[in-house]
Amino acid sequence: MGSNVFRFPVQIIFGEGCLEELKSFLSNFGKKALLVTGSTATKNLPAVEFLKKNLKEQGIECVHFDQVESDPSIETVVTGGKIASETGCDFVIGLGGGSPLDAAKIISALLTNQGPVSEWAGVGNIRNRARPILAIPTTSGTGSEATSVAVITDRQRKQKMSIVSPNIYPTLSIVDPSLTVSMPPALTASTGMDALTHAVESYVSRRAWAPTQGLSFRAVQLIFANLERACSDGEDLEARRNLSLASMIAGMAFTNAGLGLTHAMAHALGAHFHVPHGVANALLIASVMEFNLEARPHLYRELAQAMGEDVTGLPATTAGKKAIDAVKALLQRLPLPKSLRELGIKSNSLEMLAAEAFLNTRLRSSNPRETILDDIVNIFRKSL
Ligand SMILES: [Fe+2]
Repeated sequence: MGSNVFRFPVQIIFGEGCLEELKSFLSNFGKKALLVTGSTATKNLPAVEFLKKNLKEQGIECVHFDQVESDPSIETVVTGGKIASETGCDFVIGLGGGSPLDAAKIISALLTNQGPVSEWAGVGNIRNRARPILAIPTTSGTGSEATSVAVITDRQRKQKMSIVSPNIYPTLSIVDPSLTVSMPPALTASTGMDALTHAVESYVSRRAWAPTQGLSFRAVQLIFANLERACSDGEDLEARRNLSLASMIAGMAFTNAGLGLTHAMAHALGAHFHVPHGVANALLIASVMEFNLEARPHLYRELAQAMGEDVTGLPATTAGKKAIDAVKALLQRLPLPKSLRELGIKSNSLEMLAAEAFLNTRLRSSNPRETILDDIVNIFRKSL
């Protein structure tokens, strides 16, 4: 029997309005910050101005890098790294959704490592600890505020690289659910489905164990109880709070337990067809659960319970099917596309996508059921 490890070196401050407590933490980081945000919606959020004002009051200079696109590229993080280096930044602040947070991690790592970033894909390829990273999420889905993972796109090779290293954990994450109220319903739904996929995949992962499963299970409960509420009323602060919590704890779970096939397949879809990550997961997860059910029926039974299903007296496989049906029914009720075909994906692309997903041996190795290439083609076909 191998040993289990649970690592969590991130200091997290959580709660509505907690961004206002920022000042008391800033003095430890340095004298000059690179603020990393998206190039569209996030750069104009009130939180950006608030942050700049607080940095100034603490005597901290701020350089704003607002060029992060969704699914940030190697070129973008290299540009950010150059700016941070040339302007003498001591630390990096990522504010926004998963893209700016992931970019901030890699930009910070470029301050203490040579690169090239294209060789950092996989686990443990960043040699030195990044400069301090402050993560401030404004969505509730990726869990990047709680993970050692950054997903960066290699546009030349048309690949999404998962870069995993203990050297890119955020130093401090400020999780203020009130920053998520401006998310429109479709973004709330897709990011929520990303968090649900993290929770489900980490729960049944081969590397799952009690501490990670406790977090994953609770995240599933919170998402099922709150995602539709937040989609229909974005100002429902209780729902927003619970989704921020779910995203964060699902991140804590999967950074330790790993993910599975859904993510391997979603990365291929994102790299080749620019399908937003949460949408790709939403469209694939039920078919992956159907495939995996026979490998861990008792765990799917427990997931059905977390989703609020009554499984009293049912055999594990029958109960597990209720979890799959609950995910399918949830997708039908959310403001999201319902099939890959709706996004213009055609059946003649599925083998190429499956081949790409199959190459992701890291994610396939934590998936609970062994896979051959044809399995992945079939799962894509079912999701079409
Ligand atoms: Fe994800």
